[in-house]
Formats: sequence, C-alpha cells, structure tokens
Amino acid sequence: MSKKPLILGIETSCDETAASIITENEQGNPIVLSNIVSSQVEVHKEFGGVVPELAARSHIEKIDWIVEKAIDESGKKITDIDAVASTAGPGLIVCLSVGLSFGKAFAASINKPFIAVNHLEGHALSPKLNSNLNYPYLLLLISGGHSQFLNVQGLGKYKRLGTTIDDALGEAFDKTAKLLGVEFPGGPQIEVLAEKGDPNKYNLPKPILNKGGCNLSFAGLKTAILKITKSIKTKKEKFDLAASFQKTIEEILYKKTKIAFSEFEKQNGIKEKIFVVAGGVAANKKIRSMLFSLCEEKNYKNIFPPIEFCGDNAAMIAMVGLEKYKLKQFDKLDHPAKPRWSLDEKAAFLKGAGVRL
Ligand code: KG4
Ligand code: ZN
Repeated sequence: MSKKPLILGIETSCDETAASIITENEQGNPIVLSNIVSSQVEVHKEFGGVVPELAARSHIEKIDWIVEKAIDESGKKITDIDAVASTAGPGLIVCLSVGLSFGKAFAASINKPFIAVNHLEGHALSPKLNSNLNYPYLLLLISGGHSQFLNVQGLGKYKRLGTTIDDALGEAFDKTAKLLGVEFPGGPQIEVLAEKGDPNKYNLPKPILNKGGCNLSFAGLKTAILKITKSIKTKKEKFDLAASFQKTIEEILYKKTKIAFSEFEKQNGIKEKIFVVAGGVAANKKIRSMLFSLCEEKNYKNIFPPIEFCGDNAAMIAMVGLEKYKLKQFDKLDHPAKPRWSLDEKAAFLKGAGVRL
C-alpha cells in the first residue's frame, strides 16, 4: 500500500482564516481529516462590511493556532505532510499575503513542495471533496466577489461562458440585507426573512434577462430595492421585499442557467451532462432546490457541495493542492499574491460602465 499524499491547505483571501488537512483513500477519493474555519464576523460587524486592515490583522493573530488545530484534529504529525497549498488570489492583498507567506514559510521549514492556489479554483473543485466528479462539468460559481458560469474542462482548464457585468450575487444579497436593516453579514438572513413574506408583492427588475447570453447583472436590482425601502414602514413589507428579491434572483438564475446549459452542450458535444454549483451563495436552500429541479428537467446530473464546503474554507484549497501535487505542479517560493486572478485568462473583462452586450 503506497503512502497517500497528505496536504495542508491554507485560506486567508478575505474574512475567514482557515486550515485543513486532506488525503485520499485507496480508490483515490479525497478524505477531509480536518477543516477549521474561523470567521471574523465580530471584527467587521460594527463597520457593516469587511475592513481589509482589520481582516489582515485578525489573520495574523489566528493563523498559527488555526493551522496547529487543523494538524492536531487530523491526527497526523507535521512530518507526515507532503505539501502545503495556500490561496494566492484573487482577494484582498493584505489578507492573501498572510496565508501565502505562512504557507511558503511552512513548506520551506519542512522541506516540502509549495502550491499556490487560485481561490476560485478551490470553489470550482469543492464538490470533489465528497463526490466522484469527472471533467468536463458546468460550474455556476456564486460567491461574495464572483458570479460566473464556467465550462470546467480539466484541472486549470476553464472556459468562462458568462459572468456578472457589475455586482456579484453575494454582494447583491449583502447590499439588499443592509438596505433592509439586517446586520452584517446579512446575505444568509435574506432567505430567512423571505420565508415570512409574499414573493409576488414587488415587481423587481431582472437586468439583461433577455440579452447578453448567460452574463448576469444585479446592480439595477439593488437600485430598485433602495427606492422601495424608502417607503417601507412595516415588518410585513420588509419580509415581502426580501421574498420578492429572493424570487427575482431565482428567476434570473433559472433563465441564465438554462442558457448556460445550451452553451455548455454546444462547446462540449456532451454525453454526460454535469452541473455543479459552488460558492457562498450556493448555501441558499431555495436557489439549490430551484437549480435541482432545473437539472431534473434538463437531464443534468447535479453535484452540489454540502453547505460546509460552499463558503470559504481551506479543504477546497487543499483539494486543488492534492490534484496539483499528483501532477507535480509545484510553485516557487517567490510566487506573488494575485489580488486579481481570473480562471479564464482569455475571457474579456466585462465589468464597469459602458459594457455592451
Ligand atoms: O464564497 P464565500 O464564502 O466568500 C467569497 O469568496 O466571496 O461567499 C460569501 C457570500 C456572501 O456574500 C454571503 O452573503 C453569501 O455568500 N451567502 C449567501 C448565503 N450564505 C452565504 N447568500 C444567500 N443565501 C445564503 N444562504
Ligand atoms: Zn470564496
């Protein structure tokens, strides 16, 4: 029985300090031995959003013991680790630098390879942590900073089919929550409020629904919500607005995912059709069940990561590390932090004013 690789993953790209140890079984399926995530909600609460300097300081304070805890919980020794994988981007540079420097120093100290990981690739591979997933697959990545449809053709091989031209979906959830007076981080609370409201009360815009292929846009939605909140007086109206927002998002994603399905099929000439949803917003139960039904309708096999692997975590970073380790794709210790790092470097930059679809 050959020794299976043991990978330490480290994640500090935004406001979660995380470390994880993973390995694989004889069949080559990953096993998560530990997955420690320390959120900074309390640090940023009073500011209503993530403050980069404070986030970086908090990472520095916690990174040692988070990594130590991950190793302890895994039941393994430092000397058993075969490689260290750290997020190198995209994200806040002051935050990235903490986990990246720590990972490099750790790898150097145990004389083992270092692997720089793209955070988005971590989300993209997160479903592999608990299911057998073969390439190619269609990925909908919906997080606080990104919203994209990607044709995942292999490790490191991504073709972007669509992206947001303004706000990310998680950002839209967070901003709506803020306008409704929900404490940071409000995104997850929207679906709780939505359950108490009437989803048909407000008719909200669905920007670029009928154009731009499977590109997405959420900024107009936020502006509409801002206007409505000015005249809202009762709790009931607040619940109705949350419910209308949640329903509007579901309708946008339903239509755009269908378009992404046909583009994916056109590109791949698909026999097996697989759809994966990942990123923090993939924790939204109603979005999950809507996408689940759509997969049934269109004969797609759906592989959705469990909630614990949807938000930022280090197991997904270790997962990329594991795949790269097996291919001996190591990085040098001078690998830079990359605050902007696209999965599809060839895709056009679509954000900002004046974008034409
Ligand atoms: O992937 P993630 O943890 O961090 C980034 O890489 O951005 O995603 C965080 C985002 C936040 O915007 C948060 O509000 C959103 O995911 N989110 C949700 C839910 N849980 C987290 N949005 C809607 N419904 C949820 N249940
Ligand atoms: Zn993320």
